[in-house]
Amino acid sequence: FKVPVVDNEPMMNYAVGSPERRNLEATLRQMEQELPFEVPCVVNGKEIKTGRLAKQVMPSDHARHLCTYHEADEATVADAIEGALAAKGEWEALPWNDRAAIFLRAAELVGGKYRYRLMAATMLGQGKNAWQAEIDAAAELSDFFRFGVKYVEELYAQQPPKNAPGSWNRVEYRALEGFVLAVSPFNFTAIGGNLPGAPALVGNVVVWKPSPAATYSNYLVYQILAEAGVPPGVIQFVPGPPPEVVAQAIGHPNFAALHFTGSTFVFKKLWKDIAANLDKYKTYPRIVGETGGKNFHIIHKSAEIRNAVLQTVRGGFEYQGQKCSALSRLYVSSSTWNGGFKDQFLTETAKIKVGPVQDFTHFMGPVIGRPAYDRIMGYIEKAKAAGGEILVGGSGDDSKGFFIQPTVILTKDPRSVTMTEEIFGPVITVYIYDDTDFEKTLELIDNTSAYALTGSIFATDRKALLTATNKLRNAAGNVYYNEKCTGAVVGQQPFGGARASGTNDKAGSINIFTRFVSARSIKENF
Ligand code: ALA
Repeated sequence: FKVPVVDNEPMMNYAVGSPERRNLEATLRQMEQELPFEVPCVVNGKEIKTGRLAKQVMPSDHARHLCTYHEADEATVADAIEGALAAKGEWEALPWNDRAAIFLRAAELVGGKYRYRLMAATMLGQGKNAWQAEIDAAAELSDFFRFGVKYVEELYAQQPPKNAPGSWNRVEYRALEGFVLAVSPFNFTAIGGNLPGAPALVGNVVVWKPSPAATYSNYLVYQILAEAGVPPGVIQFVPGPPPEVVAQAIGHPNFAALHFTGSTFVFKKLWKDIAANLDKYKTYPRIVGETGGKNFHIIHKSAEIRNAVLQTVRGGFEYQGQKCSALSRLYVSSSTWNGGFKDQFLTETAKIKVGPVQDFTHFMGPVIGRPAYDRIMGYIEKAKAAGGEILVGGSGDDSKGFFIQPTVILTKDPRSVTMTEEIFGPVITVYIYDDTDFEKTLELIDNTSAYALTGSIFATDRKALLTATNKLRNAAGNVYYNEKCTGAVVGQQPFGGARASGTNDKAGSINIFTRFVSARSIKENF
């Protein structure tokens, strides 16, 4: 049999008066009345209330919290690991069509029954506006599950092209020996689903530690997977405390893989911790990580200005710049800058409304929390101290929620701190280059790219696109022509980068699944 033909989850537009708008607004209202929710750990399908309580604060109103959750203690993590190992045999022995059906059903639940609840949780808890929540918690999450099934089918079909007479060669793609540790971030509910989901789809068992700042939406994802038929024990839901849960899992002899999305700093630390434990393990662990970015747009003198401006505003400021793919450094040719780009860009940025996302007119919501607010405001201050000129924004208001105005900084120093370090907030730093220095600027971009996640090139001159693509060969894992550097779509643009941005195993592609299987060749003579 073949799995059904898959397509991306259709997106809704949430226009005023539309049924989807009414449904989402009603769900938001209801959720606000019901909160705070209580979230347990879930181990072997059983809710565990450890009594070690922590809160997921609402970023647009820090006096309130979306949920109180039970942090896993040592005994709970130990049970989660043992229970996962016990569930492994049956799960990986399940016929592929059954595992496929479970994830196809999960995709339906995400796009259907749970759509508005997941979106509302992502809006209230993670500060996304409705359209950003739709892209993430409705579309990308279901796409990960649906296309995942398609990719795994293709992986299993990869068989040796040749058999000697009288024999048959085949390759079996076994799950890894041991358990996978999934450590997921706050900024995409979809990634919360994909980090445990992708390894589980190929037969692995997973201990999943979600981000404290996405606990509630991720708990809903867990419930969806369970309702879809993922058996108890296969995915163990163990929220925080982050260092302890992760250290305990990494210290276990049956640790087989890390599936991580988060900061470069933490990923490097975990890699070193894994190396320090290497002699304990039965097998070399697989380490898969998607980490930071310092993503660029370069605007060539031939660029179509209106498009470049609008894409730049979206790439930098959608979801408050908190996508790993978000635009952060902008290089504009001087004739384009002075020929209309500057005026339009500053006008469009100044128009952006910032505030709680329950008000659908707010293009930008809050940043995720206190440390993020302080870090981003700190970068703005550092840029000013280093001679950067604030062209728009530069201010924040943390009296009720963590709101920062979209900020544009002009710098004359392309190696300044806001041109090189990841900020993860609504700040774009602009460097103007002389029209004749296009190639030199490409070299500069490459030389200042410690990260290599995404980048966009805006030009109508085909030669400029090709020159930039060649010169920036290693500076981005995802490149866009005349489009913003965010918004990779599962099934369309495999996503990920190298250098300090990660292991570039490309979420939303067949590659990621190859990392979570251990192939066995079998030759049979007849
Ligand atoms: N896949 C997300 C994007 O490309 C992270 O923006």
